[in-house]
Amino acid sequence: MFTDQVVAIIGGTSGIGLEVARRVVESSGRVVLGGRDAGKLEAALAELGPAATGRTVDVTDKSSIADFFAPIERLDHLFSPGSSYGRGKFTEISDDLAESPFRSKFWGQYYAAKHAVPKLSETGSIVLMGGAYSVRPPVDGAAYAACNGALESLGKALAVELSPIRVNVVAPGLIDSDLWTRVPEDVREHNYRTYSEATLRRRAGTVAEVAQSVVYLMTNDYTTGSTLYPDGGYALR
Ligand SMILES: NC(=O)c1ccc[n+]([C@@H]2O[C@H](COP(=O)([O-])OP(=O)(O)OC[C@H]3O[C@@H](n4cnc5c(N)ncnc54)[C@H](OP(=O)(O)O)[C@@H]3O)[C@@H](O)[C@H]2O)c1
Repeated sequence: MFTDQVVAIIGGTSGIGLEVARRVVESSGRVVLGGRDAGKLEAALAELGPAATGRTVDVTDKSSIADFFAPIERLDHLFSPGSSYGRGKFTEISDDLAESPFRSKFWGQYYAAKHAVPKLSETGSIVLMGGAYSVRPPVDGAAYAACNGALESLGKALAVELSPIRVNVVAPGLIDSDLWTRVPEDVREHNYRTYSEATLRRRAGTVAEVAQSVVYLMTNDYTTGSTLYPDGGYALR
């Protein structure tokens, strides 16, 4: 499926990004991984073997994004789930935390796409990471929900402007990934329980289920400008 193809994954050193990297390598492709932590990057490269290369990158720093793409000669796909942000109640959250989703998740992916485009093949694609809170916001994440909505609009706009390169968005619900291991146990359990109750499938999703969606968006040649929601039916309940 990915024979002789090169896939850049910023945020490919854990969670959803690393699972996509595994699938690309299993399907005879090569990956270029990015993330901030050199130790995590090294561990991911060691796991994936010679088909994987990478370098550290922080998507909140435009020059770091430029440095990440500079040595890459050609690319077939970009997936850019790497971001770090917070959220909180609209009337209580600090300006800095409220702005963090746009700073990291929106502008990070915007500039990653900008630097990737000159290297992308005409049969290539970009998959942006969004989130199902775009369509059904939580009570404590106005800017985060808006950021995910903005990414869906960005995906459509880039699909029009960059054609024949395809651009799509994956917008998961709550996914049982490494991200949640950094959250205090009581907060994690509260989120898993309330999210499960709020979905049709009655559980959190898995990284494998999101990775399958991402691979579909990369490989289906007639899908562009779309948003796919691996969210267990969260948006409908
Ligand atoms: N898990 C969920 O419930 C869920 C639901 C909806 C949407 N999402 C989206 O999916 C993304 C990935 O989630 P995940 O569950 O796979 O998380 P994860 O396991 O924490 O993976 C995040 C990846 O991004 C990298 N990263 C974080 N901040 C970065 C930055 N500023 N610059 C470059 N790389 C950065 C991390 O490496 P370093 O820490 O070394 O930088 C890591 O490789 C989330 O950020 C979110 O936007 C997740």
